[in-house]
Amino acid sequence: MIKLSPSILSADFSNLSKDIKAVENVGVELLHIDVMDGHFVPNITIGPLVLDSIKDKTSLPLDVHLMIEKPDNYISKFAEAGADLLTVHVEACTHLHRTIQNIKSHGVKVGVSLNPATPLNTIEEVLHELDMVLIMSVNPGFGGQKFIESSLKKISKLKRMIDESGKNIDIEVDGGVKVDNVSKIIKAGANVIVAGSAVFGGNSIKDNVLAFKEKFKE
Ligand code: DX5
Ligand code: ZN
Repeated sequence: MIKLSPSILSADFSNLSKDIKAVENVGVELLHIDVMDGHFVPNITIGPLVLDSIKDKTSLPLDVHLMIEKPDNYISKFAEAGADLLTVHVEACTHLHRTIQNIKSHGVKVGVSLNPATPLNTIEEVLHELDMVLIMSVNPGFGGQKFIESSLKKISKLKRMIDESGKNIDIEVDGGVKVDNVSKIIKAGANVIVAGSAVFGGNSIKDNVLAFKEKFKE
Protein backbone atom coordinates (compact mmCIF):
# COMPACT_ATOMS: atom_id res chain seq x y z
CA MET A 1 0.00 0.00 0.00
CA ILE A 2 1.27 3.46 -0.92
CA LYS A 3 1.04 6.12 1.79
CA LEU A 4 0.82 9.89 1.30
CA SER A 5 2.59 12.11 3.81
CA PRO A 6 1.78 15.75 2.97
CA SER A 7 4.53 18.15 4.01
CA ILE A 8 3.11 21.09 5.94
CA LEU A 9 6.08 23.21 4.85
CA SER A 10 3.87 24.51 2.03
CA ALA A 11 0.76 24.87 4.21
CA ASP A 12 -0.58 28.17 5.55
CA PHE A 13 1.38 28.56 8.80
CA SER A 14 -1.06 31.16 10.08
CA ASN A 15 -3.87 28.65 9.66
CA LEU A 16 -2.16 25.32 10.14
CA SER A 17 -5.01 23.42 11.75
CA LYS A 18 -7.32 24.26 8.85
CA ASP A 19 -4.86 22.88 6.29
CA ILE A 20 -4.13 19.82 8.43
CA LYS A 21 -7.86 19.10 8.78
CA ALA A 22 -8.19 19.42 5.00
CA VAL A 23 -5.67 16.64 4.30
CA GLU A 24 -6.94 14.54 7.20
CA ASN A 25 -10.53 14.73 5.94
CA VAL A 26 -9.61 13.43 2.47
CA GLY A 27 -7.78 10.55 4.11
CA VAL A 28 -3.99 10.71 4.04
CA GLU A 29 -1.88 8.25 6.00
CA LEU A 30 0.75 10.48 7.66
CA LEU A 31 1.64 14.11 8.21
CA HIS A 32 5.17 15.18 7.27
CA ILE A 33 6.72 17.84 9.52
CA ASP A 34 9.92 19.50 8.30
CA VAL A 35 12.16 20.67 11.12
CA MET A 36 14.99 22.96 9.97
CA ASP A 37 17.59 24.65 12.16
CA GLY A 38 19.29 27.18 9.87
CA HIS A 39 22.58 25.25 10.19
CA PHE A 40 22.14 21.84 8.59
CA VAL A 41 19.94 23.52 6.00
CA PRO A 42 19.71 27.21 5.08
CA ASN A 43 16.19 27.67 6.46
CA ILE A 44 14.44 27.73 9.85
CA THR A 45 11.01 26.23 10.41
CA ILE A 46 9.40 24.75 13.48
CA GLY A 47 10.41 23.17 16.77
CA PRO A 48 8.93 20.89 19.43
CA LEU A 49 6.51 23.53 20.73
CA VAL A 50 4.69 23.76 17.42
CA LEU A 51 4.77 19.98 17.01
CA ASP A 52 3.10 19.68 20.41
CA SER A 53 0.30 22.00 19.27
CA ILE A 54 -0.15 20.07 16.03
CA LYS A 55 -0.42 16.81 17.98
CA ASP A 56 -3.52 18.15 19.75
CA LYS A 57 -5.20 18.98 16.44
CA THR A 58 -4.85 15.75 14.49
CA SER A 59 -4.94 12.01 14.89
CA LEU A 60 -2.62 11.50 11.90
CA PRO A 61 0.73 9.88 12.73
CA LEU A 62 3.41 12.58 12.77
CA ASP A 63 6.30 11.85 10.41
CA VAL A 64 8.99 14.22 11.67
CA HIS A 65 11.91 14.98 9.34
CA LEU A 66 14.78 16.46 11.35
CA MET A 67 17.04 18.57 9.15
CA ILE A 68 19.12 19.67 12.09
CA GLU A 69 22.67 19.37 13.36
CA LYS A 70 23.28 17.37 16.55
CA PRO A 71 19.84 15.73 16.48
CA ASP A 72 20.61 13.75 19.65
CA ASN A 73 20.16 16.93 21.68
CA TYR A 74 16.53 17.21 20.57
CA ILE A 75 15.25 13.66 20.12
CA SER A 76 13.62 13.43 23.55
CA LYS A 77 11.93 16.81 23.05
CA PHE A 78 10.42 15.80 19.69
CA ALA A 79 9.41 12.39 21.03
CA GLU A 80 7.67 13.99 24.02
CA ALA A 81 5.99 16.51 21.72
CA GLY A 82 4.30 13.65 19.89
CA ALA A 83 6.45 12.45 16.98
CA ASP A 84 5.44 8.96 15.85
CA LEU A 85 8.40 8.60 13.54
CA LEU A 86 11.68 10.50 13.81
CA THR A 87 13.97 10.72 10.80
CA VAL A 88 17.52 11.98 11.14
CA HIS A 89 20.02 12.75 8.39
CA VAL A 90 22.99 10.44 8.05
CA GLU A 91 25.11 13.53 7.23
CA ALA A 92 24.23 15.06 10.62
CA CYS A 93 25.06 12.00 12.74
CA THR A 94 28.64 11.25 13.76
CA HIS A 95 27.46 8.17 15.68
CA LEU A 96 24.49 7.11 13.64
CA HIS A 97 24.08 3.76 15.39
CA ARG A 98 23.87 5.50 18.76
CA THR A 99 21.36 8.04 17.45
CA ILE A 100 19.15 5.24 16.12
CA GLN A 101 19.17 3.55 19.54
CA ASN A 102 18.39 6.90 21.15
CA ILE A 103 15.26 7.28 18.99
CA LYS A 104 14.18 3.69 19.65
CA SER A 105 14.58 4.14 23.40
CA HIS A 106 11.70 6.65 23.24
CA GLY A 107 9.39 4.09 21.66
CA VAL A 108 9.31 6.08 18.42
CA LYS A 109 9.78 4.66 14.92
CA VAL A 110 13.12 5.46 13.34
CA GLY A 111 14.04 6.71 9.90
CA VAL A 112 17.32 7.76 8.33
CA SER A 113 17.52 10.23 5.46
CA LEU A 114 20.13 10.65 2.74
CA ASN A 115 20.83 13.83 0.80
CA PRO A 116 21.07 13.49 -2.99
CA ALA A 117 24.90 13.32 -2.92
CA THR A 118 25.07 10.74 -0.11
CA PRO A 119 25.56 7.13 -1.23
CA LEU A 120 23.47 4.24 0.07
CA ASN A 121 26.48 2.43 1.53
CA THR A 122 26.44 4.95 4.44
CA ILE A 123 23.44 3.06 5.89
CA GLU A 124 24.42 -0.49 4.96
CA GLU A 125 25.50 -1.44 8.50
CA VAL A 126 22.38 -0.06 10.21
CA LEU A 127 19.70 -0.85 7.62
CA HIS A 128 18.26 -3.74 9.65
CA GLU A 129 17.65 -1.35 12.58
CA LEU A 130 15.40 1.00 10.59
CA ASP A 131 11.66 1.36 10.04
CA MET A 132 12.16 3.71 7.10
CA VAL A 133 14.76 5.17 4.76
CA LEU A 134 14.06 8.65 3.40
CA ILE A 135 15.59 9.41 0.03
CA MET A 136 15.87 13.15 -0.56
CA SER A 137 15.13 13.90 -4.19
CA VAL A 138 16.05 17.58 -3.78
CA ASN A 139 18.70 19.24 -1.64
CA PRO A 140 16.81 19.86 1.60
CA GLY A 141 15.85 23.30 2.83
CA PHE A 142 12.94 24.49 0.72
CA GLY A 143 9.68 23.38 -0.79
CA GLY A 144 8.90 23.71 -4.47
CA GLN A 145 12.23 22.52 -5.90
CA LYS A 146 12.71 20.35 -8.96
CA PHE A 147 12.92 16.55 -8.60
CA ILE A 148 16.46 15.23 -9.20
CA GLU A 149 16.03 12.43 -11.76
CA SER A 150 19.02 10.36 -10.59
CA SER A 151 17.05 9.70 -7.38
CA LEU A 152 15.07 7.04 -9.28
CA LYS A 153 18.14 4.81 -9.66
CA LYS A 154 18.95 5.30 -6.01
CA ILE A 155 15.41 4.29 -4.97
CA SER A 156 15.59 1.09 -7.07
CA LYS A 157 18.98 0.24 -5.60
CA LEU A 158 17.68 0.79 -2.07
CA LYS A 159 14.65 -1.38 -2.81
CA ARG A 160 16.99 -4.21 -3.83
CA MET A 161 19.07 -3.75 -0.65
CA ILE A 162 15.91 -3.92 1.49
CA ASP A 163 14.53 -6.95 -0.35
CA GLU A 164 17.85 -8.74 0.17
CA SER A 165 17.79 -7.89 3.89
CA GLY A 166 14.41 -9.60 4.22
CA LYS A 167 13.23 -6.77 6.48
CA ASN A 168 10.09 -4.72 6.19
CA ILE A 169 11.47 -1.21 5.74
CA ASP A 170 9.57 1.69 4.18
CA ILE A 171 11.08 3.79 1.41
CA GLU A 172 10.02 7.42 1.64
CA VAL A 173 10.78 9.95 -1.09
CA ASP A 174 10.80 13.69 -0.44
CA GLY A 175 11.27 16.65 -2.75
CA GLY A 176 9.79 17.68 -6.08
CA VAL A 177 7.16 14.94 -6.06
CA LYS A 178 4.16 15.82 -8.23
CA VAL A 179 1.11 14.01 -9.54
CA ASP A 180 2.83 13.64 -12.91
CA ASN A 181 6.07 12.04 -11.66
CA VAL A 182 4.81 10.01 -8.69
CA SER A 183 4.11 6.87 -10.74
CA LYS A 184 7.74 6.39 -11.74
CA ILE A 185 8.83 7.04 -8.13
CA ILE A 186 6.49 4.29 -6.92
CA LYS A 187 7.60 2.02 -9.74
CA ALA A 188 11.21 2.50 -8.60
CA GLY A 189 10.24 1.17 -5.16
CA ALA A 190 8.96 4.01 -2.96
CA ASN A 191 5.94 3.36 -0.76
CA VAL A 192 5.77 6.57 1.32
CA ILE A 193 5.29 9.71 -0.75
CA VAL A 194 5.99 13.19 0.61
CA ALA A 195 4.48 16.11 -1.25
CA GLY A 196 4.38 19.72 -0.08
CA SER A 197 3.69 22.24 -2.82
CA ALA A 198 1.78 19.64 -4.87
CA VAL A 199 -0.67 19.16 -1.98
CA PHE A 200 -0.94 22.60 -0.37
CA GLY A 201 -0.41 24.69 -3.53
CA GLY A 202 -3.01 25.40 -6.19
CA ASN A 203 -6.70 25.76 -5.59
CA SER A 204 -7.94 22.74 -3.73
CA ILE A 205 -6.07 20.63 -1.19
CA LYS A 206 -8.78 18.00 -1.50
CA ASP A 207 -8.46 17.72 -5.30
CA ASN A 208 -4.67 17.59 -5.01
CA VAL A 209 -4.79 14.68 -2.56
CA LEU A 210 -7.39 12.86 -4.66
CA ALA A 211 -5.21 13.24 -7.76
CA PHE A 212 -2.35 11.52 -5.91
CA LYS A 213 -4.67 8.78 -4.70
CA GLU A 214 -5.77 8.08 -8.28
CA LYS A 215 -2.13 7.58 -9.28
CA PHE A 216 -1.58 5.24 -6.32
CA LYS A 217 -4.22 2.88 -7.74
CA GLU A 218 -2.27 2.32 -10.99
C1 DX5 B 1 12.55 19.87 1.71
C2 DX5 B 1 11.57 19.23 2.65
C3 DX5 B 1 10.37 18.72 1.96
C4 DX5 B 1 9.56 19.77 1.25
C5 DX5 B 1 9.06 19.16 -0.02
O1 DX5 B 1 13.72 20.13 2.38
O2 DX5 B 1 12.17 18.14 3.32
O3 DX5 B 1 9.55 17.92 2.80
O4 DX5 B 1 8.47 20.25 1.98
O5 DX5 B 1 8.39 20.12 -0.75
P1 DX5 B 1 7.95 19.88 -2.25
O6 DX5 B 1 7.03 18.68 -2.24
O7 DX5 B 1 7.27 21.14 -2.60
O8 DX5 B 1 9.20 19.63 -3.05
ZN1 ZN C 1 10.82 16.67 4.42
